[in-house]
Amino acid sequence: MRKATIKSPANIAFIKYWGRRNDDLILPLNDSISMNLDNCYTITTVEFGKANEDEIKVKFYKEKYKNLNGKQLNRVLKQVNRIREKYKIKEKVKIYSENNFPADVGIASSASAFSALTCALFKALGNNISEKDLTIETRLSGSGSAARSIPNGFVEWLMGDSNRSKTSYAYSMASSDYWKLYDLTLIVDTAEKSIGSYEGHNRALNEYMKARLKNINKRIKQVREAIRETDIEKLGKAMEADAISLHTVAMNSKPPIYYLNGKTWEIIFELLKLRKKGIIGYFTMDAGPNVHLICEKKFKDILKENFEKFPGVKFIIENKVGEGAKVIREHLF
Ligand code: PMV
Repeated sequence: MRKATIKSPANIAFIKYWGRRNDDLILPLNDSISMNLDNCYTITTVEFGKANEDEIKVKFYKEKYKNLNGKQLNRVLKQVNRIREKYKIKEKVKIYSENNFPADVGIASSASAFSALTCALFKALGNNISEKDLTIETRLSGSGSAARSIPNGFVEWLMGDSNRSKTSYAYSMASSDYWKLYDLTLIVDTAEKSIGSYEGHNRALNEYMKARLKNINKRIKQVREAIRETDIEKLGKAMEADAISLHTVAMNSKPPIYYLNGKTWEIIFELLKLRKKGIIGYFTMDAGPNVHLICEKKFKDILKENFEKFPGVKFIIENKVGEGAKVIREHLF
């Protein structure tokens, strides 16, 4: 049967991918490190050979199934066609995909979507590709951070050497049960962001990027150590600095990109106040205003209690460290 279903997680980066050195090969300007989110995922079923035309349907958070169209359809078809060409396949494909969390608000929905899609395409073709090669194929989908959703737990995506595609892949640094970290995603806005990360990367090369890249290797080293030593303070400091550095670059792009809003900052200031009282959590934000609070188990409930009633926080998504992309038996059709 040329059919497979994959469940793949979103991930939150401690050290972020921002800016590319090669647009065709999606080669990043720096190594990045993330953890998978066990409670934010995409499930995708792919079947080759049955349909007469390509049929691609998606079900976004709290919506009904609909045909994918426009830019999003083109991105999916680009990946499908690339893989069809690679294996000289003419068969049409049926793809159903659903997300259990709001898309495009800084919870890396493209990461779970494109890792699930790529993995499902390869599995449906019965291809025994290695995990490393699967991360490379996923990166080539255009959503580079999706490569980090393939391996288990804490994942590093290496920038690689020069323009050699094979050298830029993701691997698991530690499994999902290595360190019991939580991500409380505080949702302040579920509207689609106006400038997607793909465009954000295009605008990333400015003078602030030079400063970012000058300091980033130190932060990467700190995050690697923090994970090895399960040291939340070391992780938190490097992670916060990295998020601020990304948003500084984005805000200084031409034209500027403002992902953060007033609510984002109110949450950060509240978090700093709580930290002074000994309630410890650290922030990071992707390409959107929602705040990810990273914390250990002992402060998870108290942080949640504090922010559940915080003005402007619509709801909170609680995540543990998740596994990577995996095959599941229940197909979507
Ligand atoms: O992989 P993309 O093109 O969706 O970009 C991801 C960008 C960030 O989410 C902001 C950072 C990251 O490393 O996940």
